[in-house]
Amino acid sequence: MDSVVPGIDIASVDKALSTTRVVRRRLDFDRPVDDQVLLDCIDIAEQAPTGGNQGSRRWIIIRDQRVKVKLAELYMEAAGEWMIEASERIVGTDHPQEKVMVSAAFLAEHLAEAPAIVIPTIIGEHDGSGRPGLFDSIIQSVWSFSVALRARGLGSAYTTAILGKRDELAELLGVPEGITQIAMLPVAWTKGTEFRVAPRLPARDVTFFDGYGRTWAQGPSEPNRHADGPGAFVEVDVKAPPQLLWPYVSDISFSADYSDEFKGARWGDEVGEPGVGARFIGANNNEFLGDWEIDCFVNRHEENRTFGWVSSDADNPGAQWWFDMMPIAGATRLRFSVRIGPGPSGLTMAIANMPDKEPRIIARRIQGLQENMTRVINGIKAAAENDATEQRSEHGTKSKPPLH
Ligand SMILES: Cc1cc2nc3c(=O)[nH]c(=O)nc-3n(C[C@H](O)[C@H](O)[C@H](O)COP(=O)(O)O)c2cc1C
Repeated sequence: MDSVVPGIDIASVDKALSTTRVVRRRLDFDRPVDDQVLLDCIDIAEQAPTGGNQGSRRWIIIRDQRVKVKLAELYMEAAGEWMIEASERIVGTDHPQEKVMVSAAFLAEHLAEAPAIVIPTIIGEHDGSGRPGLFDSIIQSVWSFSVALRARGLGSAYTTAILGKRDELAELLGVPEGITQIAMLPVAWTKGTEFRVAPRLPARDVTFFDGYGRTWAQGPSEPNRHADGPGAFVEVDVKAPPQLLWPYVSDISFSADYSDEFKGARWGDEVGEPGVGARFIGANNNEFLGDWEIDCFVNRHEENRTFGWVSSDADNPGAQWWFDMMPIAGATRLRFSVRIGPGPSGLTMAIANMPDKEPRIIARRIQGLQENMTRVINGIKAAAENDATEQRSEHGTKSKPPLH
């Protein structure tokens, strides 16, 4: 997209926004940071929105080495010791948290060396009233501060683990009652200035249209059309590792106990090892179509990561279904997605009979699918968590607290 606002270059703004990383190992502890650059960035940060237009943010810049050392001790007690222990445990194991944990441990060990440590606070305490003006007004400002630093060649690390010791921190810094501490950011010049865009899910995988969970492969057009690729996903966090979910996720009949449409499935006679390309036959029933069977073809089969299939025609499916398992701190995020079409299905028949009702037919179908799919993932969650509890009691293991 071309820049249309004089003085705003979209590419630069986007680059700053998308490469402002949480910097730990590339903070240059040896290069002094001038107060003025921090104040300049706080001036920028103060432009962020604030509930009720009340300027209630207060920033603490810590320079005194004795205070930094005490703060680093608090951080170590609050989380550092655990981070170091965890990083030693998983280093070299290819664990999904390995990089962040090693980096977090590094920061815990070196925090006192940061040239400046910034603690944003806000006047007020969150009282759950839903009124604006309290700390909902500060996170965006802290982020502006980080981006402004990045644009100038400095880096920061947004951290909150110290808040586990918020009372001790308040005492150390003389923060009065009624003031809320929000985060703690070590700040320094960065070693090198190039930072990568982080791997994040694409917008269409995290954005819904006109209702939670509703996705579109293209479009949506106005009015909504089958050709836009309507879909949905549901997700749940399961307190079990992916390998405990996999047997249920890859069990083609598991959903039958939870869905009011899907009745069960059997592998095709020709199938040896189930894998990509394997055929199974799904049995279904609903009040409009009665009983029907449908050929399905596995098109995703990566153990402990993803399992999916397409229905009726592998090249022009009536629908596509897939599970993803993403490891997150202390759990697995299980996601079950569907996309209708692009090929013909019961839905296209209904639309052909009542073309003017197409958007409504799609919306109702998606809603019904979401309800069934929600029951299925909750069924998998219950089964896998049950297995995890059994495993833990067999091995006598304790669970660890998660890292953000
Ligand atoms: C609310 C929140 C709390 C965080 N707390 C800590 C923390 O205590 N210690 C730490 O080292 N990193 C902390 N982080 C940083 C995250 O680990 C970091 O954002 C994540 O690793 C992704 O890195 P990236 O933003 O550079 O892509 C926190 C981030 C957020 C948003």
